[in-house]
Amino acid sequence: MRILTRALLAVLCLLALLVAGAALLWAQATTSTVGDLAFANELRIPPLLEPSDGIFELEMQEGRTTWGFNGPYLGPTLRASRGDRVEMRVRNELPESSTVHWHGMHLPAAADGGPHQMIEPGDTWRPSWTIDQPAATLWYHPHPHGRTEDHVYRGLAGMFIVDDPRERALALPRRYGVDDVPVIVQDVRFDDGELSESQGLISPIGRMGDEILVNGTSDPHLVVTTTRVRLRLLNASTARIYAFGFAGEREFDLIATDGGLLAAPQRLTRVQLSPGERAEVVVEVEPGEDVVLRSFEPDLGDTDAFNAHFAGGDDSFDILELRAGEELDASPPVPAALVAQEAPAAAAATEVRRFELGSRDINGLQMDMDRIDQRVPIDETEIWEIHNRAGIPHNFHVHDTRFLVLEPKRPALGGLKDTVQVLPGETVRVVTRFSDYSDPATPYMFHCHLLQHEDRGMMGQFVVVEPGDDAAGGHHE
Ligand code: C2O
Ligand code: CU
Ligand code: CU
Repeated sequence: MRILTRALLAVLCLLALLVAGAALLWAQATTSTVGDLAFANELRIPPLLEPSDGIFELEMQEGRTTWGFNGPYLGPTLRASRGDRVEMRVRNELPESSTVHWHGMHLPAAADGGPHQMIEPGDTWRPSWTIDQPAATLWYHPHPHGRTEDHVYRGLAGMFIVDDPRERALALPRRYGVDDVPVIVQDVRFDDGELSESQGLISPIGRMGDEILVNGTSDPHLVVTTTRVRLRLLNASTARIYAFGFAGEREFDLIATDGGLLAAPQRLTRVQLSPGERAEVVVEVEPGEDVVLRSFEPDLGDTDAFNAHFAGGDDSFDILELRAGEELDASPPVPAALVAQEAPAAAAATEVRRFELGSRDINGLQMDMDRIDQRVPIDETEIWEIHNRAGIPHNFHVHDTRFLVLEPKRPALGGLKDTVQVLPGETVRVVTRFSDYSDPATPYMFHCHLLQHEDRGMMGQFVVVEPGDDAAGGHHE
């Protein structure tokens, strides 16, 4: 009898400890900085990298605890116009090999900077291509297989702005760093002032920080001098999903998503961005007021409460304070019509490809550098159907192209995209086409852009092939 009671007591104690431990873990996994920031630091604006003769020079460098391009953290903003011939010189001064991928760019597979275009320490990689796509906010970051999360987290990321005449003809704010401002958002963790690479034990999506850096600035504010400001939001985090909006439910105009301007601005109070996604918003301010850009609790759909919690579903952050001057220059209202969408018609589709997202796989397979997963004929319109059968959030990014989302229909999904959220149970259908560049030997990637998922194998390879070329085997090199 005694022994039984003791055993029972011991079990009860253990249970109580477990519950207390779980409660602590649960509580520690909730982060909110709303109302806590002083916005003490002026937002750093990444310098524009001026090309000489169309050549952009980038050097991947090691800082004290961080990595960056042409500096210790993040990189300069690259900017080029449709029709420009650009050449990149990317020198790797890091202690390990890496790559640089031009996320959202339409270019030959050999210039794409995926895991097959490794740059060894001390080497320089020189891809070049002609910019031919609508004006948009793109970005660049490393893409070495299995190492992308670490390399991006340490700070290797930068914005790449593409301009074109149609965008230039519109009355939109476009003075870089004045009323057209890059907002590169990353969550990080510091330990004794050093960037910490520690990771929560039970995060279903990867490393989550408890502090936000915008353009590498913590606790930032932006001095606003015009009545309207255009923010180019980039989720450059490795895992975190943000639901951007403004304090007080202030409305803004969403004018562009990953692949370029929308047909018409959308009046919204929230725009949710998963890692890799971009959105351009225009917000109006009154003289003398302070307006806080915030990330509210994201909508993680049918993610169960446990996974949602550890995936940041209960987190919120103050991101950036806009400080309007007492006197503001008047900006013109946002045009009611923007640009016609350059996208293929779904009715012309000749093929439907299905991608099933598991918890760390696509169609049951893990990334294999030696396996081509899809052979896609050039210049054919295709529907890609992506289904999340796992209980955790994912997204889906496709290199080289932009697509239009057919389903689900949402105000923020009306324009060109290259990365799209796919929440548990959801099926996302997109229409796309691959043109101009075929190369049966060099693949592009499709993958989940939650970088730990990508690193752990949630990625596949496709080649774009000429008609008649698509009967060849699935091996390359
Ligand atoms: Cu932004 Cu394949 O990556
Ligand atoms: Cu990409
Ligand atoms: Cu994923």
